[in-house]
Amino acid sequence: MRDYDVECIRCGARYAKDEIVYTCRACGGLLDIKYDYAHVDSDKIVKAPGEGVWKYRALLPFGAETVPVTIQEGNTPLYRCDRLGEALGLRDLWVKHEGLNPSGSFKDRGMTVGVTKAVELGVKGVACASTGNTSASLAIFAAKAGIPCYVLLPKGKVALGKVAQAMMHGAQVFSLLGNFDDALRVVRVLCEEESLYLLNSVNPYRLEGQKTIAFEAAEKLGWQAPDRLILPVGNAGNISAIFKGFQELKTLGITDTIPMMTGIQAVGAKPIVNAFKTGAPEITPEPKPETIASAIRIGNPVNAEKALHAIRSTGGLSESVTDDEITHAQLELARMEGIGVEPASAASLAGLKKLVEQGEIQPDERIVCITTGHLLKDPERVIEICEAPKEVEADVAALRELMK
Ligand code: F0G
Repeated sequence: MRDYDVECIRCGARYAKDEIVYTCRACGGLLDIKYDYAHVDSDKIVKAPGEGVWKYRALLPFGAETVPVTIQEGNTPLYRCDRLGEALGLRDLWVKHEGLNPSGSFKDRGMTVGVTKAVELGVKGVACASTGNTSASLAIFAAKAGIPCYVLLPKGKVALGKVAQAMMHGAQVFSLLGNFDDALRVVRVLCEEESLYLLNSVNPYRLEGQKTIAFEAAEKLGWQAPDRLILPVGNAGNISAIFKGFQELKTLGITDTIPMMTGIQAVGAKPIVNAFKTGAPEITPEPKPETIASAIRIGNPVNAEKALHAIRSTGGLSESVTDDEITHAQLELARMEGIGVEPASAASLAGLKKLVEQGEIQPDERIVCITTGHLLKDPERVIEICEAPKEVEADVAALRELMK
């Protein structure tokens, strides 16, 4: 079994590998998985064969004997975006499209590790609260592992494609009368009391899988970190995980630098942006988060402490964008680069655009934007904003008449 510690980021308290714990029992701090880096062979990362999350198992909390629960997640494309870059006045822009994971979002990276851990622990079931993607992904991995899955979704606030996935893959789906933050509060208590394994991003094993976004991005750039990494922020797990991945590469001497971590939120749900801009040590939760980007409609991000550290310690930025800016960026990505993303994912591009206009981002920076979920997850807004299909007789002349 690989040697690692589960450690509180605030007080350093340690927990056994077979203990089910999500936040520190002593001080309430978030937990992190720590390896003995002096004994990690960097060649096992740089020269590892295969592809996807498990290629990097030298930095995952399992030994060689573990059989992963996998649906071949990860190994997503990193697109160079010259047309969009030119339009924004940027010379070196890339998009890593996490929407091309098997379930259509980056959550699969966290779930392959989280559900593998669940199986190792022998839990009787797994559960999560979700704005949609987490539930879809968890349902799939639980199905693959053959364990019961319970998901709590804020009623009327989850995109149809995501609910359909959770239902289709056999999760018990609950439509909670409240928002995501309410659902997370309830599921955390449920998991304690019913001995279910919680697979929201407060679970540190989830973030171990998600940090492989950093490994893949660096690898595709010739084992170099970009200058800046931009992504949408909801519960703030992904920005924390990707930051950790880049930290590990630097610790192992594989890369020299860590990107400026830049987190984007929607104007109606921006507690991290507020804390960043005011310099407050902690976030003030937003009681009524609102945005069309339902995936990041979150007022009380559980990983805020890790995320603020990631942004501040790398000289990064945090900015908010309006729903219209999100929609516009979604259209531009689709029409200039052929990349179809859900609204939350487009927040990263919308934020990039705003920060360039503000002069906060330099034209020659090498920038990687993470687009977190696929267009087909949430097409409602697309149908509203795009020109409707024109009805036409089955006749060429009639068709030509209607063509522009
Ligand atoms: N983008 C998409 C498409 C998401 O689904 C999420 C989170 C995020 C960005 C934000 O990532 O929470 O790590 O900061 N969705 C969660 C869910 C909350 O339940 O599916 P984060």
